[in-house]
Amino acid sequence: MGILIDVKNLKKYFEIRRSLLSKPTYVRAVEDVTFQIPEGSIYAIVGESGSGKSTLGRTILRLIEPTSGTIIYNGQEITRLDNKRMIEYRRQMQIVQQDPYNSLHPRKLVKEIIGEGLKIHFKMRPDEIYLRIKEILEMVGLREEHMFRYPHEFSGGQRQRIAIARALVLRPKFLVLDEPTSALDVSVQARVLALLKELRERFSLTYMFITHNLAVVDYMATQVAVMYLGKIMELGSKDDIFQRAAHPYTLALLDCVPSVGTGRKIRSVPRGEIPNPAKPPSGCVFHTRCPKAQKICQEKEPEFYELSPGHFCKCHFCK
Ligand SMILES: Nc1ncnc2c1ncn2[C@@H]1O[C@H](COP(=O)(O)OP(=O)(O)OP(=O)(O)O)[C@@H](O)[C@H]1O
Ligand SMILES: [Mg+2]
Repeated sequence: MGILIDVKNLKKYFEIRRSLLSKPTYVRAVEDVTFQIPEGSIYAIVGESGSGKSTLGRTILRLIEPTSGTIIYNGQEITRLDNKRMIEYRRQMQIVQQDPYNSLHPRKLVKEIIGEGLKIHFKMRPDEIYLRIKEILEMVGLREEHMFRYPHEFSGGQRQRIAIARALVLRPKFLVLDEPTSALDVSVQARVLALLKELRERFSLTYMFITHNLAVVDYMATQVAVMYLGKIMELGSKDDIFQRAAHPYTLALLDCVPSVGTGRKIRSVPRGEIPNPAKPPSGCVFHTRCPKAQKICQEKEPEFYELSPGHFCKCHFCK
């Protein structure tokens, strides 16, 4: 199987100024990220709040512009394509946002919310559009009559189904799922996750699945990348991460998982708070919280060591 998404040295810095005259500082939300998403995989991105997961997803889709680096989609570099040439890729690459309560337009009917993209991307007649919307609603477990309702008339789980339908109606190949179920009750969460798995099979989709929840990763993912302060600290197959984790940060995150299936989230790793991403620590960015830190960790950034084929770790002591 081929590589669908190939990201090289991707950076996204946000400029922040206290006032008009003060010098800008930069939040390094994504700091030199290189990784590849194989076609057909469910690639989980995990890490604490603020580690840059959403920024990474949004930058790959070019919903926000990268500061530097390259993004290759299906063999085509899309990093600097203009809007006109991006249109087809925008259709193929969709996102389901973090929050089902704010991601749907409150004053539009479901039929308009889902139909919008169809009007932009396909030259379809209204009766064809109607049929396509009906079909996709049924696929996500909703009904024809739901077309004529507003988002507030639905529960959180149903809204997330609408957001999924809106993404899928465009027949995308790649979906960024940004905490698609974290706002939902555990039982609803399980149903939406099962639906996402089923849809992936049915439409041969590739997912980038952003989450705090390692139990969800265990259920969904084929691959996992662990992010900390904008960097990928460890990546590999799900088994590499769950059974052979090598990075102290990954191990700390795994320690916080109570047991799979309870749906609890990572709140903090054992030691301390995340440093300010505008002033990241020298050397290894994790050294200020790492139980294994030595002098070298403050001085030198570790390489990304390949421990076994496809299993990489950014730690001086992981070899
Ligand atoms: N538009 C922006 N302007 C300035 N800083 C931003 C902007 N968007 C994100 N950031 C900062 O970039 C960093 C990464 O944010 P991001 O939302 O990508 O994290 P995340 O891993 O998705 O967190 P969460 O798990 O809470 O969703 C944070 O420090 C955040 O404050
Ligand atoms: Mg986020």
